[in-house]
Amino acid sequence: MAAKTRARKSKKTGKKAKGKGGTSRKSKDESQLGLFGKAGGKRTGSPKRARSARAPESEPAILESTEPEKSPKKRRRGRRKKSIAEQMAERQREISVSEFFTKNRHLLGFDNPAKALLTTVKEAVDNSLDACEEAKILPELEVTIDDVGEGRYIVRVTDNGPGIVYGQIPKIFGKLLYGSKFHRLKQSRGQQGMGISAAGMYGQLTTGKPTVIISRTGEGNDAYRFEVKIDTRKNKPESTDRKEENWDKPHGTSVELEIEATYRGGKRSVDKYIEQTAIANPHASLRFRNPKGELSEYPRLSDELPREPNEIKPHPHGVELGVLMTMLKDSRGRDLKGALMRDFSRISARVACAICERAGLSPGARPKRLVAEQVEALHRAMGEVKVMNPPTSCVVPIGEELIRKGLEHGVQADFFTSVTRGPAVYRGNPFQVEAGLAWGGDLPADELCTLYRLANRVPLQYQQSDCAITKAVIDTDWRNYKVSQARGALPSGPMVILVDVASVWVPFTSESKEAVARYPEILREIRLALQICGRRLSHHLSARRRETEEGRKRDYIETYIPHIGIALREILGSSEKRTAQVVETLTDTLRRSRKFK
Ligand SMILES: Nc1ncnc2c1ncn2[C@@H]1O[C@H](COP(=O)(O)OP(=O)(O)O)[C@@H](O)[C@H]1O
Ligand SMILES: [Mg+2]
Repeated sequence: MAAKTRARKSKKTGKKAKGKGGTSRKSKDESQLGLFGKAGGKRTGSPKRARSARAPESEPAILESTEPEKSPKKRRRGRRKKSIAEQMAERQREISVSEFFTKNRHLLGFDNPAKALLTTVKEAVDNSLDACEEAKILPELEVTIDDVGEGRYIVRVTDNGPGIVYGQIPKIFGKLLYGSKFHRLKQSRGQQGMGISAAGMYGQLTTGKPTVIISRTGEGNDAYRFEVKIDTRKNKPESTDRKEENWDKPHGTSVELEIEATYRGGKRSVDKYIEQTAIANPHASLRFRNPKGELSEYPRLSDELPREPNEIKPHPHGVELGVLMTMLKDSRGRDLKGALMRDFSRISARVACAICERAGLSPGARPKRLVAEQVEALHRAMGEVKVMNPPTSCVVPIGEELIRKGLEHGVQADFFTSVTRGPAVYRGNPFQVEAGLAWGGDLPADELCTLYRLANRVPLQYQQSDCAITKAVIDTDWRNYKVSQARGALPSGPMVILVDVASVWVPFTSESKEAVARYPEILREIRLALQICGRRLSHHLSARRRETEEGRKRDYIETYIPHIGIALREILGSSEKRTAQVVETLTDTLRRSRKFK
């Protein structure tokens, strides 16, 4: 029935559109011509003529209009020009995610060749660190970039992780939106299942080369070498593989991609990214060779792996209506109360009943049978009933001591401080903020401070102005801490500020994961962390100022008092011994009055 109505409607639209086309001005007609293809080409002036346009192009229009109409219905079906809706319907086609992201690669961080290089390295390094940590292996990574000419580079990242099982390799590297992290709420660097496959797709698009992967899952197993490409129309992998005889690693993965890129130094360079990654991951050892052949080594600073983050269930305050609908449909809970308790964190029997009551639903209702209005009422009630904050064991910070150690190793300064705030919650998702600060030393004194932004230990180098971290740094009044700051700008001085936001789900502003969204709760936590660092810096600066002042005064005493002694001896004609005594007493009195030690 519904189909019939729709068919009828589309016919109507067709007629109407024709009528419209017929009565409209010629110029308009011509513009439609371009839009709707050659079938509309003969259409002109009057409605009568419009009808004649239904004739095949070779047939004279006049013949068509005088032809006796034997079976109008049949004729219409056979020869009538297709309605616009029908023409449009013919052009409808499913778009695969890979086709979409081929056109919109800027969304994934591949909008220019310099950024593409960084994104590629970043995706591979993120995956290696994630995999090592998940397998409880202290990460040992080697990153190399080789310039192969004509604006092409080969990026290779090798890890000592758990390796990837044979059957999974093609899908991981040759299918977008395929990964192990999306469907769970657990802190990790990757979350969308679109990192490394997107890099592979970019490589394929710009150089035509496949991603080359070598992986071994353990000493007893063979290493395999895969070459993977993506069939972008179907978002499916195309791969070849063979045994790799000469791979000396007992376990791990090596990923190699040839991409069109530009290698640049400076703030947003791969070198800086690796340096910041080393600071934020003191448990990892990193080796990096840039295209110039320069080798940077960052040895491991801590032999302790970060605590494994717990996986959590969604919190009732953070769930969206559509997600709730799907969850209820898929729930294994027999009744509504059971489903709520089973699928969400922090819902006890009492809370579940309170939610049901508020939503006007029976706790015994079948979750799969709820209609849209009921789910909506439930969603509203879930937001209104007081529920404990989610468990915070699921976020793992770097830790105050390690942040300081990392900064001390990576930055030449003379004052370091760091702070790890307690866990907090935004939209039902737990998160934790950490900040570190380095001041003085070799850092440039008359420039804006350097800001290291990190999310789940991953350095963020683009979109600085869009990021919650930048906003919080700007919104903090650094003049309170004796640091100069122009209105609406970062503070200036010999300072490096590091902020890491750790969460089971970092709210990035886009899929390319370059900036953290400005949730008020997140901004507040960052500000509080910065204020603590700021106060400590201010104490340090006060102490330094006092010391300098003291030194200056001490210098005065030491310079001028002996002269007073000489003058006294000359005026009073006192002995040398007596003069020395007077000088000593005077010095002592001055020191004491100025509270010198
Ligand atoms: N070096 C690696 N070692 C082990 N597993 C890996 C490695 N690289 C990728 N993977 C697996 O491939 C999946 C897909 O990776 P990716 O496309 O980057 O998405 P995401 O990291 O967002 O899940 C990961 O979830 C992980 O399970
Ligand atoms: Mg990833």
